[in-house]
Amino acid sequence: MTTLRKHSLSMNRFCRVGAVLLLWALALAGCGMFSGPPTHSVGHKHKHINAEEVAHLRYQEPDRYTWQYPERVIKALKLEAGMKVADLGAGTGYFTFRLAEAVDTSGKVYAVDIDAEMNASINKQAVAKQQENVKTVLAVGHDPLIPEPVDLIFSVNAYHHIKDRANYFRNAARYLKPGGRVAIIDFRKGAFRHYTELKVLLEEFKAAGYALDKTHGFLPRQNFLVFSLNKQ
Ligand SMILES: C[S@@+](CC[C@H](N)C(=O)[O-])C[C@H]1O[C@@H](n2cnc3c(N)ncnc32)[C@H](O)[C@@H]1O
Repeated sequence: MTTLRKHSLSMNRFCRVGAVLLLWALALAGCGMFSGPPTHSVGHKHKHINAEEVAHLRYQEPDRYTWQYPERVIKALKLEAGMKVADLGAGTGYFTFRLAEAVDTSGKVYAVDIDAEMNASINKQAVAKQQENVKTVLAVGHDPLIPEPVDLIFSVNAYHHIKDRANYFRNAARYLKPGGRVAIIDFRKGAFRHYTELKVLLEEFKAAGYALDKTHGFLPRQNFLVFSLNKQ
């Protein structure tokens, strides 16, 4: 069996597990198990599971560890204490909190997402973990709205969601400190139904004014590329 086929089979498993978790979550929600002690009365409404809860179940799925290699990814980014990082399309924070550990309490991680429910999930976790160096940012589709220049814009499995990407990252250059980097991880063609072809990624960053610094080849399902701005 080829490696690609193996990954694609296990990706199918990933999707199936996601679907099972979703059905399970919906069933639990229907049973009121997410809504605390029963307070049923005539005409009561069951609490519906919200997008944040579903996303949390999906993005934090334990099987992800077997192909996402989060520790290896963080190590490859060569972050230092005190650095500032934007986690673009942070979702429920799979990488946000690992980034926050890597930059230590003197650094800062902006969890950037256009979905307020994802930000709410991260805020809740940040309080529970007492992780004060994580701040959420409610972005808009065409602009990450990062509050201050950062050393790294990091984005996992979100690149394919962004529209007009060359313009997006040309504009995002103003959120980078001098010498700042952009690291993108996104699915390869054939690994998942949403993906970005490597040549498209390379073309778009070239058009946006960036040079390729590094290609990390250790992720079985995703491209992992690091770019920096072309010197003027
Ligand atoms: C598949 S999730 C990935 C979440 C997280 N990075 C992870 O790896 O678990 C993609 C996330 O990108 C967000 N997103 C989509 N378009 C975006 C945009 N233009 N700017 C910021 N976030 C965006 C979505 O709301 C979603 O939370």
